[in-house]
Amino acid sequence: MPEKVFVTGGAGFIPSHLNDLLVDRGYDVTAIDVIDENSCSNIAHLLKEPNFHYVKADVTDVDAMVKLTKGADFIYHMAANSDIRNGGKNPDIDYTKTFQTTRSILEAMRQNEIENMFFSSTSAVYGDRKGLLDEMTGGLQPISYYGACKLASESLISAYSYMNDFNALILRFPNVIGPRLTHGVIFDFIGKLKKDPTKLQILGDGKQNKQYVYVLDLAKGIFDFCERIEKGVNQYNVSTESFTDVNTIAQLVCERMGLEPEFEYTGGSCGWKGDVSSFAYNVDKAKARGWKYEFDSTGSVRETLRMIDVDSIPLY
Ligand SMILES: NC(=O)c1ccc[n+]([C@@H]2O[C@H](COP(=O)([O-])OP(=O)(O)OC[C@H]3O[C@@H](n4cnc5c(N)ncnc54)[C@H](O)[C@@H]3O)[C@@H](O)[C@H]2O)c1
Repeated sequence: MPEKVFVTGGAGFIPSHLNDLLVDRGYDVTAIDVIDENSCSNIAHLLKEPNFHYVKADVTDVDAMVKLTKGADFIYHMAANSDIRNGGKNPDIDYTKTFQTTRSILEAMRQNEIENMFFSSTSAVYGDRKGLLDEMTGGLQPISYYGACKLASESLISAYSYMNDFNALILRFPNVIGPRLTHGVIFDFIGKLKKDPTKLQILGDGKQNKQYVYVLDLAKGIFDFCERIEKGVNQYNVSTESFTDVNTIAQLVCERMGLEPEFEYTGGSCGWKGDVSSFAYNVDKAKARGWKYEFDSTGSVRETLRMIDVDSIPLY
């Protein structure tokens, strides 16, 4: 019988690519999300597959998750508020969508004796730190509610895993881009240029320099690491090892759209309060376990712009 797996946040950007791999490899996949089935464009192509199921549910509902996940072999917990900037406007957004969803899934795992989970964590747990960040970097002080709720989720996963003898793989990834994007700098720039092709507002000074990873590289990484899940709780930084600044992304988006707008900067070194304007990841631990990527950071931006459906992005 195919392994029974659940993907929370399953209609979202990264989870939808993971669903594709899981369905293709014959797993029995149930995606859970709050979005209406008929507006889930990211997974519309999967709805006809016999080994794919979609359940509209709120993952914060513990009782619903306990009922739904009975008999699961693996839970990929990816539901969260992924729009860090928006989450900065109201702390409840991340407390509910990023932290309470985790608590709920952990309770379902405890009550149903589910043995394995994946958790999508983030570079935001490190806060605004200089130097090369690796998994042993301590004294973490996140600067966004999102980063704090991901770090709190990691802590709760650690305790539940120990107390209930289950395995948890935690991957901390930076900025993920690719087809089916739902937010982020490329998404914003395209939306803004569709609204007004003559000017482009750039948050900050455009020099924010980050590591981008291509979503298909990441989805393969998640799939592969989970196929060989280790005992206990294991954390890895996964990323490309190169950087792309916001000005370069703006130029590449304009080239893709055939536009030459005037750039307007809001000023300051970061895009918004809570934004980490630059950081550098050490991914040696993940590479030693087999982490590989096809596209480097700017290659990921180029490939995203080649593959993205500009028409599907709303005016910003
Ligand atoms: N995109 C990135 O750059 C990035 C970087 C690091 C970590 N992550 C993490 O990866 C995961 C996926 O991110 P994404 O970019 O695909 O985001 P996304 O917003 O496209 O997907 C997240 C999904 O979770 C769903 N969701 C939120 N709250 C829910 C709830 N209470 N019940 C059910 N569903 C709920 C949303 O409807 C959405 O479809 C998230 O956990 C995110 O924090 C993303």
